[in-house]
Amino acid sequence: MDELLREALGEIAATSTVAILKDVEVRWLGKKGRLTSLLKELGGLPPEERKARGQALNALKQAIEEAVDIRRGEVTRAEAEARAADERIDPTLPGTPVAAGRLHPLTRVVDEVEDVFERMGFHILDYPEAEREAFNFDHLNIPADHPARDTQDTFYLPDGNVLRTHTSPGQVRAMRELTPPFRAIFPGRVYRCEATDASHEHTFHQVEGLMIDRSVSIANMLSSMMTLLEGVFRRKVEVRLRPGFFPFVEPGFELDLRCMVCGGSGCPVCKRSGWVELLPCGLVNPNVIRAGGLDPAHWEGWAFGLGLSRLVMMRYGIDDIRWLMAGDLRFARQF
Ligand code: PHE
Repeated sequence: MDELLREALGEIAATSTVAILKDVEVRWLGKKGRLTSLLKELGGLPPEERKARGQALNALKQAIEEAVDIRRGEVTRAEAEARAADERIDPTLPGTPVAAGRLHPLTRVVDEVEDVFERMGFHILDYPEAEREAFNFDHLNIPADHPARDTQDTFYLPDGNVLRTHTSPGQVRAMRELTPPFRAIFPGRVYRCEATDASHEHTFHQVEGLMIDRSVSIANMLSSMMTLLEGVFRRKVEVRLRPGFFPFVEPGFELDLRCMVCGGSGCPVCKRSGWVELLPCGLVNPNVIRAGGLDPAHWEGWAFGLGLSRLVMMRYGIDDIRWLMAGDLRFARQF
């Protein structure tokens, strides 16, 4: 009996997992286990031996059962500890990055520009890219023989319309649609049939600004444009104002911005001049006011045509306009 007990306890003590312990338990106490067969043999013994042997076997069985129970507690705990050590969460491990889309830099800057003007009470309007020739040119005081109408610059559509070459047609449309006084901006795509280089693209973006009131001033126009530039760049910017000619404004100006790609020392974006033409503007020509259905004796206006693509380039230091429409993800992912 003692030998059996020692053997069983030895096997139990040597187990390291619940599964192995289960095997040992079955081998001793299971239906075909060693102890079970010894108990079965009891029936074959003479009655006087049977009692003593039966008691001894039962005591052995109990001892083995107890040892198994105790050992089960031990290996269960050991296994749980091992698993816990294994599964420990390390919060300093880097997470799995989630692939996210990006806003195109043009979208970002348009959002900012719209924000700035909304705060100043401007409507934000949207006008067609395929435009009637009359709105793109005639109503804007651009006569039929004006060089801007040359097929070199304008994409003519098969139906006789054009792809708008600027956002200015919106001036006339807005005057016809809205009740003055009003102020509005209209951002959008414009198209020009010309050779592309670092600062020219056949498809680019402008934001037209227009204010119509009983009397408007160049000072007010300038302050709106400075609010725009400082809103987008979030710091003081250096500008200069030059006379500029556009048939639809009188007087007309060019507001130039100190090149922010090269800081003014000269680069392909500013054509090595240190300045970028960014904001052509002026007081709306009375002929345009008239084309808009208003009486120039009662209504005045100022307008600007922001070169949005260039503004984006200045804002992010992009040195070639062709990146903007190239659809290259390596570019888009940088913003
Ligand atoms: N439409 C002009 C252009 O694209 C810019 C402009 C707009 C000039 C408004 C003056 C006033 O060249």
